[in-house]
Amino acid sequence: MDGSASSTTTLQQPGPNIIRLQQGITRTVKPATSGEKSFKEIPVLDVSRMYSEDLAEREKLAVEVRDAATKVGFMQIKNHGVPQEAIDAAFDHVKEFFALPLDAKMKLTQHQNPHFLGYEPLYETNVGGLKRGDCKESFSFAYDPDDDPSGGKDMPAIIRRVSQWPEPSVVPGYREALVKYQQSLLALARRFIRIFALALNLPEDHFDKMVTHPLAGVRTLHYPPMTGSDDQEIGLGAHTDIEFFTIIVQTINKHPALEVLNADGEWIKLYPQFGCFVVNLSDMMMRMTNDIFLSTVHRVINRGETDRYSIPFFFGANANELIEVLPSCTSEENPPKYEGMTTYDHSNARLRIARYQHPNAKQAQVFLPKKYVVRKGVPVFPEEQ
Ligand SMILES: [Fe+2]
Repeated sequence: MDGSASSTTTLQQPGPNIIRLQQGITRTVKPATSGEKSFKEIPVLDVSRMYSEDLAEREKLAVEVRDAATKVGFMQIKNHGVPQEAIDAAFDHVKEFFALPLDAKMKLTQHQNPHFLGYEPLYETNVGGLKRGDCKESFSFAYDPDDDPSGGKDMPAIIRRVSQWPEPSVVPGYREALVKYQQSLLALARRFIRIFALALNLPEDHFDKMVTHPLAGVRTLHYPPMTGSDDQEIGLGAHTDIEFFTIIVQTINKHPALEVLNADGEWIKLYPQFGCFVVNLSDMMMRMTNDIFLSTVHRVINRGETDRYSIPFFFGANANELIEVLPSCTSEENPPKYEGMTTYDHSNARLRIARYQHPNAKQAQVFLPKKYVVRKGVPVFPEEQ
């Protein structure tokens, strides 16, 4: 796989080797003199073996997943079993939706939904703290047990998140195509997390009971070519994802837009391959594995001349599941770094921080680490007050 590094990161660096993101997450960057090697490209894994009836084959795949999870935090997966027709149908409808006039899309604004679901216009978020913000528009919808072929066993009604959809006449077939895509990804994610269990030296079915009604939301994204300068805008500023892992499909443009930060502080371009999904591990996975599996910083920059579309699927445990550090990831020398936290609390805290313009955003303050305060809905760090 071809990969290359762009400029060294210019994120805020409160310490010599610490990078702090706008969302309050920190990551360590190695000193250049450490002599250790960082990844320079994103591995491509053939995951057809997860459907093998031979446990030895599944275990071989788990070894490769563990290697990618501990060294990179990102991978591309091929032969994943999701039909290309489902992907194509989803993209066709996503493009049709974003081509609607702004006022038609704003009828579904996230501001009228307490769960951050619906439409977000350009520059609604500002993950990088720039003058304009993130040059992207999106549409998000949540997991619905009625759409889950398994019925979403034991899901309490109180944690159900209700999505908003355009009228069928506005974009015919939109909801059906996207829900069908979500169902395909749900099946894939439930299968793939069994490989993660093996990769963590756990019984293969360890996570099964934790994902009976999981967080499995989908966000469709449109990144138009950027026109502003680097200090004005970015496609999506440097961040980490929230749940266990994200599965992304994206249009293949001439200029790759997704970039991944390695431990040397270099941005590695991800060149999407046709037929592959990108999988990136997210913060709840890193937290649960006591930082053994990496949730790696990434960003999107569309400096090409064509529109980029992507559809991330965010997979986490049941919202009411208490996630604690796995005993298999701790030792006397490496005790648990985190207390248990429910998926719901973790997810909501993070969503509110990013969506500081949302009417619910003020509640972010109660979740933020003590060293931060919120001013005008934006996290502010002590030295910037
Ligand atoms: Fe992301």
